Amino acid sequence: MNEKLLVLDNIRMNYGAIEALKGISFSIGKGEVVALLGDNGAGKSTLVKIISGGQQATSGRMIFEGKEYQAKTPAEAKAHGIETVYQDLSLCTNVDVVGNFFMGRELTRKIAGIPFLNERAMEEITSKALASAGTRIPSMRGKVEHLSGGQRQAIELNRFVHWGGKLVLLDEPFAALGVEQTRRGLDMIRHVASQGIGVVIITHIMQQAFQVADRIVVIRHGVVAGDVECSKTSPDAVIEMITGQTLAGAGPASE
Ligand SMILES: Nc1ncnc2c1ncn2[C@@H]1O[C@H](COP(=O)(O)OP(=O)(O)OP(=O)(O)O)[C@@H](O)[C@H]1O
Ligand SMILES: [Mg+2]
Repeated sequence: MNEKLLVLDNIRMNYGAIEALKGISFSIGKGEVVALLGDNGAGKSTLVKIISGGQQATSGRMIFEGKEYQAKTPAEAKAHGIETVYQDLSLCTNVDVVGNFFMGRELTRKIAGIPFLNERAMEEITSKALASAGTRIPSMRGKVEHLSGGQRQAIELNRFVHWGGKLVLLDEPFAALGVEQTRRGLDMIRHVASQGIGVVIITHIMQQAFQVADRIVVIRHGVVAGDVECSKTSPDAVIEMITGQTLAGAGPASE
């Protein structure tokens, strides 16, 4: 857990005159789940996009697995094993579960020297991977368009783990999910982390943060307003970090 996977060092992001991030520094350990909390516009999504190659920081450094890291595109980040998992944006809805799991990595076998897709092997691997993570999908051959948001998310997360992902970023992954699917999603995140993968999850729901995370990092107006282990803090203390106000209403907390 103490081994650092990603270190963020003084990350700044300006959009014209807007300073969205004003020097963010914290780290994510291997197998650690970090919940990123903060009010609307605090800078959470901006930070996640910078880590996953969707945007370039104005300045600052990132160290991934001990080496200088920078990703100019999401594909570059993905090649390092860093990826944002969206609920369904990266799945092809008109393709079946197996097809999505192996997208771009299809297995082939040769018959009389001609390569054919090895459908049976791909189906077996997909169903094993999903079952080992406790994901129940009715049919490996059903199209993704017939699956629920939670099932799609599970396929994406499992695919990420199966193909050697190291750091997964989730920006409000449960916003559109019901209670039961959210619970399964939280379980899956713990399962993913137990395999040594780092997880950053943005959520506005305090209870989810405490349920799933090892550590909470609070961003307020583009700076880190708190970086605490869940076991050493409380929801009230975190609310104070998010708002900068003491709950007793005694005015702003110290910056
Ligand atoms: N492409 C952009 N161009 C200009 N300003 C931007 C852009 N993206 C974000 N911002 C600004 O940067 C700040 C941080 O936005 P960001 O989306 O990172 O917040 P957030 O913490 O994810 O908020 P939310 O909880 O509402 O999703 C905001 O002031 C926002 O208006
Ligand atoms: Mg956001």
